[in-house]
Amino acid sequence: MAAKGKYAGVLVMGLSLLIAIAAEDPYRFFEWHVTHGTIAPMGVKQQGILINKMFPGPDIRSVTNDNLIINVFNHLDEPFLISWAGIQNRKNSFQDGVYGTTCPIPPGKNYTYALQVKDQIGSFYYFPSLGFHKAAGGFGGIRISSRPLIPVPFPPPADDYTLLIGDWYKTNHKALRAQLNNGGKLPFPDGILINGRGTGATLNIQPGKTYRLRISNVGLKNSLNFRIQNHAMKLVEIEGTHTIQNVVSSLDVHVGQSYSVLITANQPAKDYYIVVSTRFTPKVLTTTGVLHYSNSARPVSGPIPAAPAPMSWSFSQARAIRTNLTASGPRPNPQGSYHYGMVKVTRTIRLANSAGQIKGKQRYAVKSASFYPSDTPLKLADYFHINGVYKPGGISDQPTNKPIFPFTSVLQADYRAFVEIVFENGENIVQSWHLNGYSFFVVGMELGKWSPDSRKAYNLNDAVSRCTVQVYPRSWTAIYVGLDNVGMWNLRSELWERQYLGQQFYMRVYTTSTSLRDEYRIPTNALLVVGPMDARDKALLLSDDSV
Ligand SMILES: *[C@@H]1O[C@H](CO)[C@@H](O)[C@H](O)[C@H]1NC(C)=O
Ligand SMILES: *[C@@H]1O[C@H](CO)[C@@H](O)[C@H](O)[C@H]1NC(C)=O
Repeated sequence: MAAKGKYAGVLVMGLSLLIAIAAEDPYRFFEWHVTHGTIAPMGVKQQGILINKMFPGPDIRSVTNDNLIINVFNHLDEPFLISWAGIQNRKNSFQDGVYGTTCPIPPGKNYTYALQVKDQIGSFYYFPSLGFHKAAGGFGGIRISSRPLIPVPFPPPADDYTLLIGDWYKTNHKALRAQLNNGGKLPFPDGILINGRGTGATLNIQPGKTYRLRISNVGLKNSLNFRIQNHAMKLVEIEGTHTIQNVVSSLDVHVGQSYSVLITANQPAKDYYIVVSTRFTPKVLTTTGVLHYSNSARPVSGPIPAAPAPMSWSFSQARAIRTNLTASGPRPNPQGSYHYGMVKVTRTIRLANSAGQIKGKQRYAVKSASFYPSDTPLKLADYFHINGVYKPGGISDQPTNKPIFPFTSVLQADYRAFVEIVFENGENIVQSWHLNGYSFFVVGMELGKWSPDSRKAYNLNDAVSRCTVQVYPRSWTAIYVGLDNVGMWNLRSELWERQYLGQQFYMRVYTTSTSLRDEYRIPTNALLVVGPMDARDKALLLSDDSV
């Protein structure tokens, strides 16, 4: 479904070029088989997406700078892609696993991703990016440990657990997708899962020891609150940044976000509730798991601890999250040695989300532009100089008040620009935004409308650097990002219905340089299916192929 027939010659030439990977860094090899299989996380059998027969999929464990070679076999009956939320794929947006940068893996075929976790540490996750597959599973944790000689700002924990939490539907993902394709909205979820279980997920701990929990919200729609009965949590890392170690009794995790906390088994020996509940919803969904002491004398008991109610609490918790400037990150030098607050901002881009209809069907938009994918993935159109696939510059930097319109939006930006992006949320639900290929500094987050005066309240000293950020209802969030990674990068809503129905676009970070120091060539194994998208593929990507 990539380039049209007349470009086939160009594509063959592309195949003969070599990919550049830093040869000196270690390699880890994975072979993944993606299948449908029966799961029953809420007691009702449904069709899930499994990786090597697992739901959720296996964790990827790696160390800073590792090359991860992941051969993914698609045994589903539909095209498939895996994306790596938070892995920056430096100089290599081809490996991003989103439809704008690569062709899907056809049913019965495989594709080998070559990722490098260059200069990264921290907790992230992977997920299937096409066709609402995320509602059926196919996700798993990613952890990047520090290299042996780089100091970590806390003692090694006794163990390290991945906790994938998310809202869940008992409905098949194809049925959910059909509802959206037919113009409808996603209903309220049926429940919440912890590591693929609707109830009873268990963490085993030993008295006196300290554990690291890596919590990611892999759900579709809802911000969640995470807490453990009688146990305080020490926040230590967020999406690759070591934080000031605030102690919290509960933690808000918005859709797509990841947090690491330490907990210590310092309570009387019994079992305790692990609790996850939806935030800011009229009806609150709650699920529980079990924190099990090895010498536990009693099962879980007592009241399930409640979540702090008000939005203002969540706001304050978010603002209190700071970078530990003296701790090391991926490199030995302190995280605070990059003074982002002193870099001159070269461009301000204001982005507002909106909801509306196109031809009587529900759509979502950024700057009124509701994203429709092109037949040819945008990055491939760029690479092979195929004109007419998208019109650059379709999104302006300033707010617009146009009605929602269909558009294949690509925002042009210069390599090495230092950009301020303001996310403006005029709607009454929490938004969550993710930028591929980067982490960014969250400099401000306030209720009300943003104005240039709002900059006075920015944190230009120790804001956290991350890749997914929330925007509260009728509020704004501002980020700073240094565009040092050439490529075509997806900027999207993490609320999966909104992403699917158009609240996303691509940022083309561009240089005239063709040096491999700035961007790698297309991978030698790139899938380049010649010919227009067929109707079934289109149904995976578009809610209305008549537009
Ligand atoms: C598919 O897997 C085989 C090994 O079984 C490998 O040699 C080949 O390169 C893979 N194909 C792609 C496109 O990565
Ligand atoms: C920040 O990191 C340093 C260096 O590892 C550590 O000594 C200090 O306790 C940390 N500070 C806070 C407030 O977390």
